[in-house]
Amino acid sequence: MMIARRLLRSNASAQASSLVKYVTSTASLQGHTESLLDSSVRHFSSTPSAQSDTTEENGFKGHGMLAPFTAGWQSNDLHPLIIERSEGSYVYDINGNKYLDSLAGLWCTALGGSEPRLVKAATDQLNKLPFYHSFWNRTTKPSLDLAQEILSMFTAQKMGKVFFTNSGSEANDSQVKLVWYYNNALGRPNKKKFIARTKAYHGSTLISASLTGLPALHQKFDLPAPFVLHTDCPHYWRYHLPGETEEEFATRLATNLENLILKEGPETIAAFIAEPVMGAGGVIPPPKTYFDKVQAIVKKYDILFIADEVITAFGRLGTMFGSDYYNIKPDLVSLAKALSNAYVPMGATLVSPEISDVIHSQSNKLGSFAHGFTYSGHPIACAVALEALKIYRERDIPGHVRQIAPKFQDGIRAFSDSPIIGEIRGLGMIMGTEFTNNKSPTDLFPAEWGVGAIFGEECQKRGMLVRVAGDAIMMSPTLIMTPGEVDKLVSIYGDALKATEARVAELKSKKN
Ligand SMILES: Cc1ncc(COP(=O)(O)O)c(C=O)c1O
Repeated sequence: MMIARRLLRSNASAQASSLVKYVTSTASLQGHTESLLDSSVRHFSSTPSAQSDTTEENGFKGHGMLAPFTAGWQSNDLHPLIIERSEGSYVYDINGNKYLDSLAGLWCTALGGSEPRLVKAATDQLNKLPFYHSFWNRTTKPSLDLAQEILSMFTAQKMGKVFFTNSGSEANDSQVKLVWYYNNALGRPNKKKFIARTKAYHGSTLISASLTGLPALHQKFDLPAPFVLHTDCPHYWRYHLPGETEEEFATRLATNLENLILKEGPETIAAFIAEPVMGAGGVIPPPKTYFDKVQAIVKKYDILFIADEVITAFGRLGTMFGSDYYNIKPDLVSLAKALSNAYVPMGATLVSPEISDVIHSQSNKLGSFAHGFTYSGHPIACAVALEALKIYRERDIPGHVRQIAPKFQDGIRAFSDSPIIGEIRGLGMIMGTEFTNNKSPTDLFPAEWGVGAIFGEECQKRGMLVRVAGDAIMMSPTLIMTPGEVDKLVSIYGDALKATEARVAELKSKKN
């Protein structure tokens, strides 16, 4: 039995192959055809697990969890990849297989998976005060200290107050409520609509999923809510017109935004929300001059600018915040993920001094600011986040990113000539690759080939996890990687790419 297990473990590659065949074969599409062939759903499909034999015995197929962003057939028919342990930039599954985690969990464990200072901060706080809330002017020291620390760190634009949430989705939900409260206080009851962008990701609660611009998060959920409008996705490679420069593309998008505002009536538009670099939509950095032009438009019509910094904060782009990188002067900011290095759930909504003043005076009139969660400013989350912020500063994580990012960016971009790659894009420690035919944004591989999934599986076989979304893959590793680890990431990417090219060539020859 043991020998058989070892054999199976060493044979992960064959097993993973059969799983991809399972995913991509016509037979396996029966019953799932509609969802798998829908490009928006493919966007969220994941590489099947190459988990080996022990899971079979433990019966993890058909487990009891309604798993997020996982199709029913995946939960029922495939074994999940069960991660048991993490160390630095690596994670280990329950069979002891080691993977370089090129997405840092979900774009979040910036300081890696085993930072002892954060474990100590959590443990110390657990021992001292595991819980107290922040309602009715009662609170805890870690939440007060953290609010102050965040306000001192975010310098792109002076912020007035911090409201604590448990996630990025809650942070963005709170944005909408705060902005409505603010506009009601100012006697502008009609200024309530939000403009977000196609392909944006802002979360999956009712409101944040509405702001999100990905059809998969809307369909059959009766979303988006009617107060949300979506404007253009700023993806130059995919959407620019023939001969159009990046700057001209940015101007066209800003004009489209202005036209949308004018069509709806500026007096009805409350806020514009944007990720400095789109993440889950496929890692899409904006074209040159985009944020300058868009900020000028929203300012012109007295529309608030919300920077969703959930994945761009704390060094990811080589600056402490994405707003620093793009010279964004937001009125409100959303944070989460790396705020607590994801060790404990944590999010935050930052508001400008003007907005916090208005909220305070309105709450004085009403008797209370009636918004908050039991866990707003949870002392353990705040203690961990405080220590994480200390580490970002002390170790100059943005500076470290500036040092290692060229190796990461140049290393991956060296594969741009691959015949199956349409575009490689990114900056700092975030990158996306889109697989297409003939370098064309419109000449897509047949969905049932699952080219993105094949690449993901080839990486996994070689000990690396990437995020797969249809025929795009994304990487956003820890920000503590050594140059040697970056070399390793690039080398696995290159080997997986070669293997994927061969498999695509095989699929092409079968088709012809
Ligand atoms: C830009 C952005 N905003 C918001 C969210 C939602 O955060 P959470 O999953 O913590 O609710 C995410 C999650 O990936 C994100 O990338």
